[in-house]
Amino acid sequence: MINIENISVTYNAGTANEVKALQQLSLQVLPKSFVVLLGSNGSGKSTFFNALSGTAQIDSGKIFIDNQPIHEWNAYKRSVLFTRVFQNPLQGTVTGLSVIENFRIAALRTHSSKNIFAGVSTAFRKKVQEVISESGLPLANRLDTLMGNLSGGQRQALTLLMATMADCKVIMMDEPTAALDPRSAELVINTTQKIFQNSPVTIFYITHNMKEAVSLGNRLLIFKEGRIAIDASDTEKQKWDLQRLHGWFDEG
Ligand SMILES: Nc1ncnc2c1ncn2[C@@H]1O[C@H](COP(=O)(O)OP(=O)(O)OP(=O)(O)O)[C@@H](O)[C@H]1O
Ligand SMILES: [Mg+2]
Repeated sequence: MINIENISVTYNAGTANEVKALQQLSLQVLPKSFVVLLGSNGSGKSTFFNALSGTAQIDSGKIFIDNQPIHEWNAYKRSVLFTRVFQNPLQGTVTGLSVIENFRIAALRTHSSKNIFAGVSTAFRKKVQEVISESGLPLANRLDTLMGNLSGGQRQALTLLMATMADCKVIMMDEPTAALDPRSAELVINTTQKIFQNSPVTIFYITHNMKEAVSLGNRLLIFKEGRIAIDASDTEKQKWDLQRLHGWFDEG
């Protein structure tokens, strides 16, 4: 359970360039949620992710994950809970290391990494192979391939698998398909859907693609000027179609 209470983020406070990027934003998110975030450029979506992960400082407010006051933690301590998938696939993984080495780094990042992840390399390899096979990605026998030699979509999809294997609580995806060709985008979306179905992780997914916004997830948030202007539950979300979304943005 994520409980966000009245968080605000101001950049360049007290100067002529002051920006109120988040304004008294509150939100509760149940486990196993797949929350899609939509909103115009500069509406505060990425800042919201940064506030959660601790890379943007909040001026006020509180953030609890499973009742833990993570607003009191630094970004490094919080990194155990979160995995981020960025628009640029190069940002999520270490291109100069192999697939298996990237999985190892991801697993070691969390305190909760089980003993199987820590040392026994054959057991670890087997586990990674299983996780990749189950995902349907055709990469289970490419564990020694350099990450940099895979496609952007494959790298994004593997980042998602690493997140679930490392037991992270929240996956934050910031326009993960924006830089991908349609096939790679589909790969990332399918992997995300599978993780949503099979794991207790919470997914936040930022997109500018209205088709994705209506088809993905079980909750829709529309950001406007650092606030959540629309919060549509699963049932309400079903009623949002492309036309209605476009209409909302046209009205501004
Ligand atoms: N590091 C920063 N320093 C100063 N201002 C910033 C910084 N990061 C974001 N902003 C400003 O805060 C506001 C919110 O930006 P943010 O990146 O969160 O928007 P966004 O909804 O993710 O937009 P986009 O859809 O373009 O990615 C914008 O006005 C932006 O210019
Ligand atoms: Mg952004």
